[in-house]
Amino acid sequence: MLIDSHAHLLDERFDKDRGEVIASLSHKGILAVIECATGPADIAAAAQLAAENPAIYAAVGVHPHDARSYTPEVEAQIRELSRQSKVVAIGEIGLDYHYDFSPRPVQQEVLRRQLALAQELSLPVILHNRESTADMLEILREFAPLQGVMHCFSGSLETMKILLDMGLYIGIGGSLTFKNSIKPVEAAKQVPRDRFLIETDSPYLAPVPMRGKRNEPSFTHYVAERLAGLRSQTQEEIQAQAVENTRRLFSKIK
Ligand code: NI
Repeated sequence: MLIDSHAHLLDERFDKDRGEVIASLSHKGILAVIECATGPADIAAAAQLAAENPAIYAAVGVHPHDARSYTPEVEAQIRELSRQSKVVAIGEIGLDYHYDFSPRPVQQEVLRRQLALAQELSLPVILHNRESTADMLEILREFAPLQGVMHCFSGSLETMKILLDMGLYIGIGGSLTFKNSIKPVEAAKQVPRDRFLIETDSPYLAPVPMRGKRNEPSFTHYVAERLAGLRSQTQEEIQAQAVENTRRLFSKIK
């Protein structure tokens, strides 16, 4: 059994069968899913999805793509929703210099605001970083030590060590299974056994052999299988460790 520590089941690609995907989770070996909000448009819906479905938990926050839409009202909404028992983290937050959908100074300011909010609320953070590692590390250092995860980690071993030293966990997803995947493979081999989480980022980043299809939480099993092979551990050991790590970080998960 696994927990998918990062999914977007509210994405329109689940509009036709969201209920079925959620209803089939336990049959497919999934104990729980963390639904990650991306901005004002889905913060309340993520919390609602979690409130309505026992296996779903939510992270509430504003993604860097949407940083421009972060206002005091949105912050108040995040603060309010975070009191709910099924809201387990502030996320997905971070920096994305690949798309630059919001100006970089705005992304940085909004990341700082949400890191401060998470610390005030004693909640872990779910971090997104794309082509912005230097600025990300600089901002994280201001807040270290941190509780949280660097989702879909694909950086160097050197960066991983810095993140681990700050207290963060390493999120491992479908890119681990891709042909020519080098950095995620090195990270997966080296990450301490008590510091990795498994995730999908559904509907994105489906692992091999489902690459190109819509990703879904049960595909975490392909990631676990690959991880077991790389670390010369059994799949059962990897699953147990991943679940234990996820529960340790997100302490509101039952
Ligand atoms: Ni995501």
